[in-house]
Parts: sequence; C-alpha cells; structure tokens
Amino acid sequence: MTERTPAGVTAPPVRLSNLSAGFADRGVLRQVNLDGPPGRVLAIVGPSGCGKSTVLRCINRLHELDEGAFVSGDVSVGALPVYSSTTDVIALRRRVGMVFQRPTPFVTASVFDNVAAGVRAHRRFIAASELEGLVEDALQRAGLWREVVDRLFGTAMALSGGQQQRLCIARALAVQPDVLLLDEPTASLDPMGTQRIEELLYDLRDTVTVIMVTHNMQQAARISDVTAFLLNGRIVESAPTRQLFTTPSDARTEAYITGRFG
Ligand SMILES: Nc1ncnc2c1ncn2[C@@H]1O[C@H](COP(=O)(O)OP(=O)(O)O)[C@@H](O)[C@H]1O
Ligand SMILES: [Mg+2]
Repeated sequence: MTERTPAGVTAPPVRLSNLSAGFADRGVLRQVNLDGPPGRVLAIVGPSGCGKSTVLRCINRLHELDEGAFVSGDVSVGALPVYSSTTDVIALRRRVGMVFQRPTPFVTASVFDNVAAGVRAHRRFIAASELEGLVEDALQRAGLWREVVDRLFGTAMALSGGQQQRLCIARALAVQPDVLLLDEPTASLDPMGTQRIEELLYDLRDTVTVIMVTHNMQQAARISDVTAFLLNGRIVESAPTRQLFTTPSDARTEAYITGRFG
C-alpha cells in the first residue's frame, strides 16, 4: 500500500501476509496477501463460501477455535504480530472487535449492560463514572445515544433490528479497539437500518481500521475506500474501490461485479 496515512488517523494498519487457512485436509484460504490501510474502510467481496468470514476470523484468531482448523502465514495489527507465540490472544481480541451478520445482543441484559459487558470483563474494578463515560461515548460513536438515552436500563430486545446491530457495534467500540471487523453487518436489516450503519462506519474510519465483508456490491462501492475480491480462497484483485468497480484488472472481477456469477 503506497498511500499515505491521512492526518489525524490513529487507527493501525492490518496486514495479511501469505495467509493460508482451512480445516483438516481442506484448504479455504490460499496465500492471501491483503492490507487494511489505516483511516480507510476495506471491503471484502466474493461469492458465498469463498472464505470471506474465514479471513476475518483469522485476524482475531477465532478461526483456530474450530475443530481441525489450521493457519499459516502472518497477520499483523499495527506492530502486533497476531500469530506470534508471545501474543496474548485475549488482549488481541480486545484490540480487534467483531460484529456478526445477525445482531447478537445479550438478551437478558439492559442496553447499558450490553455496552458495558466487554469493559467489565476486561476491567473489573472500573469506577462507575468512568464506565458510564465509556458507555455513552460508545453509544455516541455508534450513532445510537439519542435513541436510547431515556431507556438505557430497559431491555435491549425492545430495540429494532437496526438499533440492535448498532448496539453490537457500540459494545465492540466500548473497549476502544483498534480494528473493527464486520461480517455482512447489514444482511438482516431494512434499507433504513442499513443506511444508518453505512454512515457510521464511514465516520468511524479515522479511529478504527474498518474491515467489512459484504455480499452487496453497491454497499462496498458506497462506503469502502479499498475493495478486495476473494474467489476460492485467493485474492483475485485488491484496489481502490472506484478503480476496482470501474476498471478492474482481472476478467473474473469484472464478471463478478457485473453480476455474471456469485
Ligand atoms: N467449521 C468448519 N469446518 C469445515 N469447513 C468449514 C467450516 N466453516 C466453514 N467451512 C467451509 O469453509 C469455506 C469458507 O467458508 P467461509 O469463510 O464461511 O465463506 P464465506 O464467508 O465467504 O461464505 C466454505 O466452503 C465452508 O463450507
Ligand atoms: Mg461468511
């Protein structure tokens, strides 16, 4: 990546180098090289089953928790070597937050407790006033504060699907991660809920490196700065989004973005 980091950006770069991964005798990712540049939104697109979720799950080391999983190659988050034997995996997962396809609020917890959960897990003796500040800040950054300020102690399940997904983003942001991974975060939402999330991801990119998997080509075109096209576990092409969508360098990319397969 030759681009300069924009001024004021505190998010770190994420780099995947020769990353291969799979299950038992089945390869899923093959020699993936990919950069999540600081201050940018990286979108990963590709047909179902090509390995998009596996890429995300290798960045925060969730992949290795599955039976038979293997990983080789390197991933770095800023200066942190993700697969070094000395890397604290719990600390890594605090730096690399993740949001899934369907909202996953804790069903018995209040709005406040949902956002506070991760903070409490990491910092058992945090002062109440500091915790309240972190929760408010996370809800503000997730664009949800004004909608929930008068029902912080009500159940999270009373929120709409789109609000629940922004709550999950707030929960991820509350521990002040460096990277936010999102796996098809708007797949279950209506257009309005989708739009709110797209806007907020765009605004978050100065402070967290945003890496988003999406099925939706228009979404990738709207909000990402860089798009990577993954096919059968290989990166076919990774380029500035406008370039990838207007003048792709590989015929397979062109076939995919014009809807001829996948
Ligand atoms: N736990 C698992 N065990 C075996 N194969 C798996 C497992 N999870 C995913 N796979 C396979 O790995 C491939 C890539 O999956 P995934 O990364 O989820 O693709 P995508 O997110 O692009 O749809 C798929 O063929 C899928 O069936
Ligand atoms: Mg997936």
